[in-house]
Amino acid sequence: MSDLLRVRGLTVRYPGRRPWPWSPHRPVDAVTGVDLDLEKGRTLGLVGESGSGKSTLGRAVLRLLRPSGGTIRVGEFDVTGFGLRVPLEYRRAVQVVWQDPFGSLHPVRTVGSTLAEPLRIHFGLDGRELRDRVGELLERVGLDADMADRRAHEFSGGQRQRVAIARALAVRPRLLILDEPVSALDVSTQSQVIALLREIQRDTGTAYLFIAHDLAVVRHVSHRIAVMRRGRVVETGPSDRVCDEPAHPYTRALIEAVPEPEPARQRARRAARRTARGTATSGTPETADTPDTSDTES
Ligand SMILES: Nc1ncnc2c1ncn2[C@@H]1O[C@H](COP(=O)(O)OP(=O)(O)O)[C@@H](O)[C@H]1O
Ligand SMILES: [Mg+2]
Repeated sequence: MSDLLRVRGLTVRYPGRRPWPWSPHRPVDAVTGVDLDLEKGRTLGLVGESGSGKSTLGRAVLRLLRPSGGTIRVGEFDVTGFGLRVPLEYRRAVQVVWQDPFGSLHPVRTVGSTLAEPLRIHFGLDGRELRDRVGELLERVGLDADMADRRAHEFSGGQRQRVAIARALAVRPRLLILDEPVSALDVSTQSQVIALLREIQRDTGTAYLFIAHDLAVVRHVSHRIAVMRRGRVVETGPSDRVCDEPAHPYTRALIEAVPEPEPARQRARRAARRTARGTATSGTPETADTPDTSDTES
C-alpha cells in the first residue's frame, strides 16, 4: 500500500459568528466526513465552488487548524495525533503554495533571502553552499540565478508563483499542497506554471494536493479528482472518468460552468444550447466541447 496521504472521516467545524453579542455562536460545518487517499508521487485534484471547504481541508492537512473529528495520516505521521507542537520534520514533509504569491512572499526581503531561510532552518546551510543552492532552486523553476537579489514586486505574477514553488521545494517535501496556485494568473501563464509543476513532479516524485475551483485546470494536472460540495466529497475517481462520465449532477454542473477561452466558441456553444432547447434535446451538446488546453499535456 503506497498511500502517502490518508484522510478518514475528516470534520472541521468553525465556531462561527454570533448573530448578537448575547446569542450563542453559530457554528459552520466547513468539512464533514471527508475520506481522501493520495499515493506517493501522484496528484489528487480537489475541486468545488468557492466555500465548499477545499482550503479548510488543506489547512487541516497542513495542521494549521485542528479538526473536530476524523484522522489524517501523511506517511508515518499521525497528523491528528499531534499535540500543540507540530514536529519540524512534518513541517518539512508537507509544504504549501497559496493562490496569492504577493501575500505569501516577503515585500522587503530579496527573493534570495526568502529561499535561503528554509535551507538554513532545515539543512543548516550557509555561505557559499547556501548561495549555490538558492541559485539552483531559481533555475529549477525557470528563473535566473542572479534574480536572487530582487524583491517580490520586481517580478510578474507568474514569476512570483515560481518563486513560491521554489521556496516550497527547497526542503524537498513529500507532499505539496497547492491551493488555487494558478487562479490569479492569465491563461497562458497558467499553462506554463502547470507545465512546470508536472515537470517537477516527474523529476522529484513529490505528491500534489491540487486545489482549484476550475475543473478544466484541475483535470490537466490530476491523476484523480475529488469533487467537494458543501463540505462533503460527492464524487472521487480517475481524472478522465470524472470529467468525461461524471456520476454526480454537481460534477456535471461544474463541467458546464467551465468558461470557454474563445468568444467564438462561446457563441457557438450558446447557439448549440439554444438549438438544443428549441428542439427535443438528446444528450448534452455543451459537454462535448470542453476547452482545448492540450498544450499543457506532455
Ligand atoms: N476562519 C473561519 N471561521 C468561520 N468560518 C470559516 C472560516 N474559514 C472558512 N469558513 C467557512 O467555511 C466554509 C468553507 O470555506 P473554505 O474552506 O475557505 O472553502 P473553499 O476553499 O472551498 O472556498 C465556508 O462556508 C467559509 O465561509
Ligand atoms: Mg479556498
